Parts: sequence; structure tokens; C-alpha cells
Amino acid sequence: MTASPDREQADPLFNPLDPAVLADPYPVYRRMRETRPVYWHADIGSWLMTRYADCTAILRDAEVFSTDFRKIGIPTPPTLLSLQTLDPPDQTPLRHLALDAVRAQDLDALRDELDAFAVKLLDELAERESFDFIQDFADVFTLRTVTRFLGVEAPVTDEAFARFNDDLDHSMDAQLDPDAEEPGLRARAHFNDLVRGWLAAPGPEGVLADVVKLLPGSGVAVDDVLVNSVRAFFHAGFEVPSRFLGNAVAALLAAPDAWESLVRGEVGPDTAVEELIRFVGPVQALARAVTADTEIGGQQLRAGQVVTALIGAGNRDPEQFPDPDTLRLDRKPGAHLAFGRGAHSCLGLNVARIEAHATLGALLRHPRLRLAGEPVVRPNGTLRGLARLPLTLG
Ligand code: HEM
Repeated sequence: MTASPDREQADPLFNPLDPAVLADPYPVYRRMRETRPVYWHADIGSWLMTRYADCTAILRDAEVFSTDFRKIGIPTPPTLLSLQTLDPPDQTPLRHLALDAVRAQDLDALRDELDAFAVKLLDELAERESFDFIQDFADVFTLRTVTRFLGVEAPVTDEAFARFNDDLDHSMDAQLDPDAEEPGLRARAHFNDLVRGWLAAPGPEGVLADVVKLLPGSGVAVDDVLVNSVRAFFHAGFEVPSRFLGNAVAALLAAPDAWESLVRGEVGPDTAVEELIRFVGPVQALARAVTADTEIGGQQLRAGQVVTALIGAGNRDPEQFPDPDTLRLDRKPGAHLAFGRGAHSCLGLNVARIEAHATLGALLRHPRLRLAGEPVVRPNGTLRGLARLPLTLG
């Protein structure tokens, strides 16, 4: 989801690429929820939902609100067809295979390993006068985690890797910025080559080893859709938690009382993590194709239209979360939307929680943590996060 930065914006209420909105979309979300909660946005070409209940209703009903845009006549490039873009029942065997492979992993062992790795990495960075939390910690930590979880060699993180990642991220905003689409497809083709190598020779353990083991009898064909799905898993498991960790640390720095309550042990990291995910979950928008006429909030949605659940807005709906714009680490927010809902809900949510827990644990060893420069916001609307977060721990 996004409006092209240089395109003249006709819509007065919401331009997702306005730098002020990128830096803090929540005031705009609030205005939309209060004035036009079910809102046709002509530039984006989509209905936008900002209420928790409407976002939930959309994500729960994969039949009327589909991720398979071919059903409304929008072609899907072959490299995009995956468990993320297919609906049940086509998606079901792939989703079950992925779920079974994820459930076969030893998460207690992963937790111990990540706790230790986060401490080691951060203690090393603490030796420096300052460092960039995004590039030096979050990107390194989440890439290592997802490759360890998949059971594959970590790719070389050279300039080409960074560029392909950026192109893929930008293409998530392709709905209104068609220029972002082509580079995104090239990036996907590049990462698919990596995945084909992994599938041909999986490591002895990890998600991919279990996928290969469980494939016979799973009903899943060994084809490009499988390759695309593994690539989607890899990318979702790397970029998204990295953005989240940056957002979470920035939110804690902006709320010193909350940080102090963690330092004093008044709130445990597990409780804090869930509220942080509600508060600054990086995924803002989940788009769906409307496959049948339906009504939401007194508005008629027509088959063939697009609807977008702004889950970042839903997670700040006061009907669901009292005093939603306050970070209350002991809130226990329950059913927030940051991991989605329904047929496409996040397959890595427990890994994400373990990563966040490990990161908070490592940071708490350095309670004097503070900013060492201005944070830089990434120019991405759909996956919200920071490009730089200079920190000092001393
Ligand atoms: C804080 C970190 C994370 C957040 C906020 C997050 C959020 C989400 C959301 C909102 C969706 C739903 C997309 C939709 O409905 O269209 C999703 C799907 C997914 N996530 Fe995550 N995610 C995180 C971490 C991870 C990790 C660590 C992994 C893998 C290890 C992962 C793997 C996936 C996969 C494979 C899907 C697609 C599921 C499907 O379409 O069936 N995610 N995630």
C-alpha cells in the first residue's frame, strides 16, 4: 500500500508516504477512524479500514476477502504465487506443511540460543562509543535467527543482498507506485535461486529439513509455488522482526517510564513484548480482494474492489484497547492484530516473540541505553520501520 511520493495527492486525509505520516501514522489513523472508518481512498484504489472490528472481520473471512487477486481479474506474476497469495483450499496443503514443519522445531533450544547470542552481540557493540541498532544488531540478529530456524547457511550480506532486500521491501508498496514492482520481481527471482539451492540440499535439521521430510504425502507439489513460499517465509522471517525490534527500542526510548519499569523488574519482558507488538507492530496494511458484494459499517463494498485492513490503526482502536496511544507494558493486550488473523496469520509469531524477549533481555544489561543521534525513518508505508537508530549503551 502506498501513494507514490511525487504523485499529486488528491486525497486530503491520508497520504501514506508523507514523511510526517511515515514518522507517525497514528494521529492520521485516529482521524480516519473517527471521521471515515470505512473509507474509499481513490489514490490507493482501495477501501481503508481503521476499526479493530472491521479489520478483524476482513482477515477472518478469506472467502469474501481474498489474497488471490486473480479472482477479481488482477493478474499475479508467477513469482508471487505462494502460501501468502493463495486462498484455502488451494493454500491449505502448503499452510499445513509449513505449520507442521514449524511445530516440529525445538523452541526452548532456540530461546536459549537466541538469549545467549543477543547478549554476546550487544555486549560487543557496547564496547563502541555508539552503533546503529538496526544494521549492527537487528538485521544481523534476525537474519541469523531465520536462517538458523530454517536450517540453512546464512547468505552473504553484501551490497547486492541489501539492494535486493530494499527492492523487495519497496515492492510491498507497489499498489500505487508501479515503478516499485519490476525491481521487486527481480529481487524475488534472485532470492528464489537461493531457495532452490537450499531445497536441493537442506541442512540436517530445521524447518526446511522437516518440509523436505514431510513433503511426500503432504499434497504439496514440488514446484515454483513451493519455492516462492519458502522465499516468502525467509523474507517475512527476516525483515519484519528486524523492523519490529527497531520500532520497539525507539518506542521505549520515547517512554522512559516504561523503560524504567522494565529495568526495575516491575514488568517482565514477555508481558512487555506483547504490548510493544501491539503498539509498534511494523506491518501496517493487509490488502484483500473483495470477491462478493458485502456491507461494512453501512458502506457497500462491491465484488472486484480492493479493501485494506490498516492493522496498525486497528491496534490503536480505543473500543478494543483503552487509552490506546499510551505504551503500557503491563497491559496484556490479548488479541491484537499485529500478527494478522485467520488463514494467513503469522507462522513465525513465536519465533518473533523469542527474538524480542532475547533482545530486551540483552538490552536490560545496559540500563543507561540512550540515543546517539537522530533516528532515520524508512520510506516504506506498508512495513513501517527505521533505517537507522544510533544508540549508545555506556
Ligand atoms: C514481529 C515480527 C513479525 C510480525 C509483526 C509479523 C506479522 C505478520 C503478519 C501481519 C502476517 C499476515 C499477513 C497477511 O495476512 O497477509 C504474517 C504472515 C506471515 N509471517 Fe509473520 N510476522 C513477524 C515475524 C515472522 C517470522 C519471524 C516469521 C518466520 C520465521 C514469519 C513468517 C510469516 C509467514 C510465512 C507468513 C505468511 C503466512 C500465510 O500467508 O499463510 N513472520 N506475519
